[in-house]
Amino acid sequence: MNLIVFASHNGSNAENIAHYFKDSIVNVVAILTNNHNAGVLERAKKLGIPAVVFNKNEWETGDRIDGIIDAYRPDLIVLAGFLWKFPSRILHKYPTINIHPALLPKYGGKGMYGRHIHEEIIRKKETESGITIHWVNEYYDEGKQIFQATCTVDSGETPASLAKKISLLEFEHFPRIIESLLINS
Ligand code: GAR
Repeated sequence: MNLIVFASHNGSNAENIAHYFKDSIVNVVAILTNNHNAGVLERAKKLGIPAVVFNKNEWETGDRIDGIIDAYRPDLIVLAGFLWKFPSRILHKYPTINIHPALLPKYGGKGMYGRHIHEEIIRKKETESGITIHWVNEYYDEGKQIFQATCTVDSGETPASLAKKISLLEFEHFPRIIESLLINS
């Protein structure tokens, strides 16, 4: 079974997913990114996974990039910190899921990414946050939810300490949910 992972920056989830499925029937066949400076490129190199960088024009028109995606024959597309809107022409062909570092529908939508979210949650004095894994549709963070897990936001919490808690939840649950979706598909 083939997985394509999209990531825009660091890529720690992409790496964690690749490790989880090492020596299994699931293969991370490619890592795709819109950012030629993304940390995920170095991770892909170390993991021996092909990486592809694409630009805005290719993303909007499908030139080159759609052919690359088709060639990898993905059973599932996984967005792990991918920040561009996902086009319907790809969504119509391939089931696609995303992970969001908050409890949607709160703190979702365009521009809601990583650290910005944690800062906002602390500023609003929330006592709970968490992760949401959801299907991707044409609207940012609005697709049907698959799974949520929570953590506390304690007094004295900082964006960095909250990010750490969220990252632990993501590492624990994201690969497991991907596996269950593939097995039940
Ligand atoms: C993850 O926390 C993911 O939930 C978040 O970006 C981070 C990527 O980290 N995604 C979003 O905020 C999507 N709106 P990583 O590059 O180290 O995997």
